[in-house]
Amino acid sequence: MDKIVIHGGTPLRGEIRVLGAKNAALPTQCAALIADSPTTLRHLPQLSDVQTMNRLLCGLGCEVTGERTLIIDPTGVAKGSLEASYELVKTMRASVTVMGPLLARYGRARVSLPGGCAIGARPIDQHLRGLEALGAEVTLSHGYVETRAPSGRLTGARFKFDLVTVGGTQNVMMAAALARGSTRLENVAREPEVVELALVLNKMGARIRGAGTPVIEVEGVDSLSGIDHAILPDRIEAGTFMVAAAVTRGDVLLRDAPLDHMHSVIESLESAGVICEPTPEGVRVIGPDELKPFHVTTRPHPGFPTDMQAQMTVLAILARGRSTVTETIFENRFMHVPELCRLGADIRVSGNTAEVHGGTPLSGTIVMATDLRASASLVIAGLVADGVTEIRRVYHLDRGYETIERRLRPLGARIERVTGAPS
Ligand code: UD1
Repeated sequence: MDKIVIHGGTPLRGEIRVLGAKNAALPTQCAALIADSPTTLRHLPQLSDVQTMNRLLCGLGCEVTGERTLIIDPTGVAKGSLEASYELVKTMRASVTVMGPLLARYGRARVSLPGGCAIGARPIDQHLRGLEALGAEVTLSHGYVETRAPSGRLTGARFKFDLVTVGGTQNVMMAAALARGSTRLENVAREPEVVELALVLNKMGARIRGAGTPVIEVEGVDSLSGIDHAILPDRIEAGTFMVAAAVTRGDVLLRDAPLDHMHSVIESLESAGVICEPTPEGVRVIGPDELKPFHVTTRPHPGFPTDMQAQMTVLAILARGRSTVTETIFENRFMHVPELCRLGADIRVSGNTAEVHGGTPLSGTIVMATDLRASASLVIAGLVADGVTEIRRVYHLDRGYETIERRLRPLGARIERVTGAPS
C-alpha cells in the first residue's frame, strides 16, 4: 500500500493546470451507454474512479479504448448482462448511474445496492422513485435492484425529488431522455456536472431544457448518437489547490480553473482574507500573512460544496480565532477531524458543526486517509505542518486527484509517494 510523505513549511509558488472533473467524467462515461454509436471523451483525468467506471462499462459489453482520450463503443451492450456487480458498486457509488441509461436504452438493468459508505448511509431511494415515476418496475432482491420498463420503453412523467440529489437527477434525466413523451423533473440538483450532462445528452440528440435551474424538462426522443466531448475542469480540484496555496502563504496561478462554477468557494476564501485574482488563464491565488476566521455551511450548488468542506477546515485551523464549518449534505463527514487534531488542530464537533479554534501550529505525524476529500485535507495540512507528515491509505486520494505528489512538486512542495507502506 502506498503512503504520501510531506516535509511541510514551503510556500507553494508557480503554476498548475486544473484537470478534467471526476464528477463530470463519471456520468458522461455512463451517458455513452445510451447512444447507438461510439462516444469520444477528451481531457479525462487519470483516476482510479474513472478506471472503475471503465471496468463497469466493459463488463456491460462496451469496448473501451484509450486513457486521457477515451473511446467508448456501446454497440456490444445488448448482448451483455446489463448488470453492475456488487464488487464494482461497493468501491464506487457512482456506479449506480448506469441504471438510468441502461433502463432507457435496453429496457432493464440490474444494479447492486451501494450500501453504506464512510460518509453516511447514502440511500438511492430518490433515484428509484424517479424511475418508477417514469413507469419502471423496481424490485429489490439478493442485494440488487432490478428495474424494468414494462413495454420496453419508459414513459415521460412529472416527478419532484424530495431532496436535492446530484446522482439521482443525473440518473432520472438520462432515463427520461429516451422515454416516450415529455418529463418534468422538479427540485433537481443544479450542480455544473448536471448542466454538463444535459449538454452531453443534447449533443447526442436529446431535448433537455432547464439544467442549472430547479426544474428540468425533457422531451423524449427515439435514439441518441455518440459524440466527441471534452470534460470540463474540476472545480473541486481547483478549490483544493487554492486552499493549499492559501495556507502555505503561497502565490499560485491555477490555469483553467472553472471560476464560473466556484463563486461560493471564492467568496469563502476571500472572507478568510485570501486573495483570488481572476486572470485570462484562470485564477491567481495569494495566501495572506494573517488569515481571518470565517463560517461556512455546505449546501447544494450554488451553495458551498460539501466536497470542499474538509479542505476549508484546514484553512480555518490556520486562521487565528473561532471559525465554524457546518455540514448539511452528508451525515458523518467529519472523519478528517480526529486526524487533523493529531496534527495539532483544536476542533470540536457538535452535531453537524465543527468549531475550529484556529491559530495553533500544526506538527507532522502519521495520519490515516479515510475518504477522498478527507485525504485532500490531510495533504494540505501536511504542506503547512512543521516536520514530516505521513499519510496512509492514499488509495482514497487516488480516486479523485491525479498523481497529486507529481503535480504539487513543481510548486515547491516537498512531497513524495512511498510504495509498500503499512496499511
Ligand atoms: C455527488 C458527487 C459527490 C458529492 C455529492 C454532493 C459524483 C460522482 N459524486 O454524489 O462528490 O459529494 O454529489 O454534492 O458526482 N440521498 C438520498 N436519497 C437518494 C440520493 C441521495 O437520501 O436517493 C442523500 C444522500 O445520502 C446525501 C444527499 O442526498 O445525503 C446528497 O447526495 P447526492 O447529491 O445524491 O450525492 P451523489 O450523487 O452520490
